[in-house]
Amino acid sequence: MSAGFAARVIAWQRKHGRHDLPWQGTRDPYAVWLSEIMLQQTQVTTVIPYYNRFLARLPDVAALAATPLDEVMRLWSGLGYYARARNLHRAAQVVMSAHGGRFPRRLDEVAALPGVGRSTAAAICAFAFGQRHAILDGNVKRVLARARGIKGYPGASKIADQLWREAERLLPRRNVEAYTQGLMDLGATVCTRRKPRCDACPLRGDCVAVRRGWVGKLPAPRPRKPLPHKRTVMLVLTRGGEVLLEKRPPTGVWGGMWCLPEAARQADIAATCLKRFGARVIEIEALPRIAHGFTHFSLDIRPLRLRVSALVPNAAEPGLVWLPLEAARGAAIPAPVRKILAAL
Ligand code: ADE
Repeated sequence: MSAGFAARVIAWQRKHGRHDLPWQGTRDPYAVWLSEIMLQQTQVTTVIPYYNRFLARLPDVAALAATPLDEVMRLWSGLGYYARARNLHRAAQVVMSAHGGRFPRRLDEVAALPGVGRSTAAAICAFAFGQRHAILDGNVKRVLARARGIKGYPGASKIADQLWREAERLLPRRNVEAYTQGLMDLGATVCTRRKPRCDACPLRGDCVAVRRGWVGKLPAPRPRKPLPHKRTVMLVLTRGGEVLLEKRPPTGVWGGMWCLPEAARQADIAATCLKRFGARVIEIEALPRIAHGFTHFSLDIRPLRLRVSALVPNAAEPGLVWLPLEAARGAAIPAPVRKILAAL
């Protein structure tokens, strides 16, 4: 079974897999690493322009390590999951200080870099160095859970261990790159979460889920706990053609990014603006609400546009900046802020 499994994945990859993704033409571990980090939680079509732009601006690990975090965040801005960018930046510094500027080749050293887990390290070592290691990202978990009929929730450690054992067992002796890419491509284009195309799947012949009618049920979803809801008021202070941005604290949601200032409530907003920003409010307008989903909670954003005038001297907090609207739109801002500024 296991030899047949890998052989079919490899033959399918050669004929039907993806061959022209921008990171497939390189063995530069820096470029491969960058692509794998961007692809951790984001689809290929979204990643491509970010990857090309990032690599053009920061072509190697030394350039990344030497660049201020704010510029890295700006290049990442819009891709989401910003801890990835902060970890990438930290990892570049680790490569410079602990590995003499040369990207490490050993799986354990790669996996020890900030933001690189076991599966990402395996993918990097396979694609950049041709090493033989098993991957198990979200797509591959789905392929293996279905093909081998593994029923529990893959996030549970017992089930994850079982999937890892299968991933190791099925790994071919040779052609690990084509096999690895093939598993990723199968998960992304055939064995999709919704509406999988089983008729086009090379594993159909002995897929346990197909045989037992479990395709729609596997992988098992996370046992449900409803996500907490949070709400916030975003303050869009405008003055002439300028808007006020505030830098977020370095850790937590949107850490280190530029954001609109927030308030807990809409009440007493004029007094709040005077106290926090030294700004007198002339006019208040409620803008359309925005719902934003994070992994761990959903956020209901109520933007308030506040036209303000005469600033009271020295009353503003540090970490605040007035920017022309166009410059604000080009700063390292998260997606909902981008949406609000785009509609102004
Ligand atoms: N997802 C994660 N890594 C990938 C890669 N190298 N190619 C396509 N999709 C991916």
